[in-house]
Amino acid sequence: MESGMLVAFEGIDGTGKSTQLQTLANFLKEQGLPVITTYEPTDSKYGRQIRSLYKDRNSCTPEEELNLFLEDRRLHVHELIRPELAAGKIILTDRYYYSTAAYQGAAGIDPTEIFARNSFAPQPNLVLLLTMDPEISLARIREGRGEELNDFEQIDQLHKVAHHFATFDDPCIARINAAQTPEQVQEDIRRTVQDRLF
Ligand code: TYD
Repeated sequence: MESGMLVAFEGIDGTGKSTQLQTLANFLKEQGLPVITTYEPTDSKYGRQIRSLYKDRNSCTPEEELNLFLEDRRLHVHELIRPELAAGKIILTDRYYYSTAAYQGAAGIDPTEIFARNSFAPQPNLVLLLTMDPEISLARIREGRGEELNDFEQIDQLHKVAHHFATFDDPCIARINAAQTPEQVQEDIRRTVQDRLF
């Protein structure tokens, strides 16, 4: 019996997901709710291998890359997500299997197959899908970090990723316009959480 709730934040890079997640977590905790936050890729050995790919994705095939994300998630589900759900926690995760379907989908693997291979992972109660034009999100990444883009963030790639995200239509998905002020985005997120979960 799983009595907790799983909320996934999804979207292309540069939408402000991580900040919005943390702000929501603080808000829910202030109300006395048992919230925990987590992220993928995790810090497991698979997660570390994935991070080393940021600089050179060509060092493995799309299939090998997909397997790393799946193994990383398998551990995450086994060690954290299922036990914390069973303990009644509200889990906010920064990325989940919709990212795999969108990103590894953009790398050429059929998203339907990717969803099927994630059937071991509990379905989220709510997916907050932050939407934004990839040109704007990349401009934010460049300004904010003053960095070169990593291999998962190249513009052509990100357009494909955004396209896949736009095609997903599970009932648990709520789309949030991330091209507003951070305060407006948080307001939309809180209203959606209230309407859908409480
Ligand atoms: P990101 O959330 O940006 O993590 P970090 O803050 O550690 O950089 O995710 C890293 C990248 O990994 C991001 O570009 C999306 C990509 N990704 C996938 O391609 N597939 C997946 O299944 C996940 C979870 C992430």
